[in-house]
Amino acid sequence: MLRQAMLAVSKSERAERVITTSPLTRDVVKRYVADDVVDVIDGLTREGLLVTVDHLGEEVTDRAQAERAVREYLALLDRLPPGGDASVKLTALGLRLSEQTALDNAATICEAAAVRGLTVTLDAEEHDTIGGLHFVHATLRKEHPDVGIVVQAYLPDAIERCEKLVGARVRLCKGAYTAPGAYTRPADIDRSFVRCLRILMAGTGYPMIATHDPRLIQIASTLAVLDGRDVNGFEYQMLYGVRPGEQHRLAGLGGQVRVYVPYGADWYAYLMRRLAERPRNLAFFLRSLLSR
Ligand code: FDA
Repeated sequence: MLRQAMLAVSKSERAERVITTSPLTRDVVKRYVADDVVDVIDGLTREGLLVTVDHLGEEVTDRAQAERAVREYLALLDRLPPGGDASVKLTALGLRLSEQTALDNAATICEAAAVRGLTVTLDAEEHDTIGGLHFVHATLRKEHPDVGIVVQAYLPDAIERCEKLVGARVRLCKGAYTAPGAYTRPADIDRSFVRCLRILMAGTGYPMIATHDPRLIQIASTLAVLDGRDVNGFEYQMLYGVRPGEQHRLAGLGGQVRVYVPYGADWYAYLMRRLAERPRNLAFFLRSLLSR
């Protein structure tokens, strides 16, 4: 219930106005969103962690704004270290205008990334964008076989999606939005996640295991051994600001760990999704507002 309410708030323009203009939210934002992205990338790289960087923004309905997002990504690519990845939301690139607009814009970013030896991963967003996401991904893959895609385990067709994504770079996550027919009980989402994980780890692609859940991380590590996956044949991914100790522990064991680093002024919807993931976060957020 609370999660649904928070996700509804993430779409409210009124709440966005109140929360983004309050100086009191700054500390909470700083926990999850990079203030100085270059500094954060450098720090994580020095610590032996990989990065995927997201220029925040989504649900763009204006062509010029989508073009601005492309320019921002092109500038960002110049700052990424070797092995760096850009996480891209197709609705920031104009998916709501047309699939072709998002495809053209994503292709520009993929081409620039390829020249620099970097990769791009397409985030998964609201359920009504998933068809467009797979269309854009399949089209881009013809030119850029290493373009990654996100599969959300809470969608009942996640297993089928994983089976079809033969040889692809696939980021598997639980799913941060709401969708009709989606699994909502944690046990169902976890079961779907593990079934997807089995397919991806036994397959020919490159699995990117995006979770902070200790049990799922343990299952992924076990499957990697059972499937004879090399440590360089898959990676763990976690969000900036979430379980940094675990990020370092896994990297210390020799695993590849990539941190998802969001930055930029358009942080509202992203922050609300992070708060929705954990009621304790919401309490922390409200306390920090009330204690000023
Ligand atoms: P779960 O929510 O059960 O959390 C497990 C534990 O992790 C918690 O008990 C807590 O300790 C810690 N934790 C989790 N979230 C936290 C938070 N916000 N603050 C503090 N602690 C927290 N979703 C999507 O729909 N599309 C996408 O493209 C992506 N992309 C993506 C990339 C990466 C790298 C990650 C890690 C996640 C995503 N997600 C996503 C988000 C994902 O779907 C999911 O909502 C979150 O990862 C939370 O789920 P967990 O698997 O971590 O489990």
